[in-house]
Amino acid sequence: MRIGVIGCGAIGSVIVDAILRGEVRAELVALMDIYPEKCEGLLKKFAAKYSIPVCKELEELLRIRPQLVIEAASQQAVRDYVPRILTEGIDVVVLSVGALLDEELYKEVIEATKKGNTKVYVPTGAIAGIDAVKALQPLGIKRVVLRSYKNVKAFDKEVLKRLGFSEVKEMTKIFEGEGKVAVKLFPANVNVVAALALASGRIPWVEIYADPARNKNVHEIEVEGEASKIYMKIENVPHPDNPKTSYLAALSVVRLIKQLTEGSGLVIGT
Ligand SMILES: NC(=O)c1ccc[n+]([C@@H]2O[C@H](COP(=O)([O-])OP(=O)(O)OC[C@H]3O[C@@H](n4cnc5c(N)ncnc54)[C@H](O)[C@@H]3O)[C@@H](O)[C@H]2O)c1
Repeated sequence: MRIGVIGCGAIGSVIVDAILRGEVRAELVALMDIYPEKCEGLLKKFAAKYSIPVCKELEELLRIRPQLVIEAASQQAVRDYVPRILTEGIDVVVLSVGALLDEELYKEVIEATKKGNTKVYVPTGAIAGIDAVKALQPLGIKRVVLRSYKNVKAFDKEVLKRLGFSEVKEMTKIFEGEGKVAVKLFPANVNVVAALALASGRIPWVEIYADPARNKNVHEIEVEGEASKIYMKIENVPHPDNPKTSYLAALSVVRLIKQLTEGSGLVIGT
């Protein structure tokens, strides 16, 4: 499979590494970033034997005709590029899934998949259990709660001050409320909230805790459906290059590419 990657940051680098090492059976045909030097840096770092084009704009990437484009850039990149790529008949993996909480953009993306006869893949990312949440959804889900625990340093000082938490000396609940409010105050949680919302059909209720002693990003998720009640706890190691991103999120994309490229007769998980 011919793959293009938009966004050569923490997640992009794990994907590029996996392709160039041959961990996944795919061909890297294009890289793109608003800072092209980041792509060049990645290629140097992984000592790529072949010259892989670094695109300065979307049209250049489209001319290369990848079969799959991985967006590992930003919500703005989803807005600016994803509908166009899909309309051109190219499938897309979206990491900045928070962008799809915008109903207008969501509709535009779905429309583009119809026009291009294409697919958008949203990997499970930094959490787990999305398969079970999807399965429960048709019978009805009554409650979705997300509790996130992070080191206090992961939060914007100004936001903490505004919420009345200028000094956090022990684990403190700094927010409880609607997911749509949470993602405005704490954009770092937007992808997890959006993935749960898309899978369950409900915007989660969110609690956020700041803890000076914590070195992992922890998500506790409760989903109460007609058929099951699920409780999940995910303790994520932050990516060394970007502490906001969990390493698991990048690994989930590598796994997805494997699924799309390796034609094993056994499919595990839904
Ligand atoms: N789905 C999930 O569970 C999950 C988990 C972690 C991160 N994410 C999201 O994935 C995205 C990438 O995460 P990351 O940790 O690799 O970020 P990063 O900041 O390390 O890297 C992003 C790269 O994309 C580039 N970029 C930004 N906007 C761009 C644009 N409009 N066009 C081209 N390039 C652009 C940046 O220059 C940067 O090199 C972010 O939006 C992040 O919120 C999703």
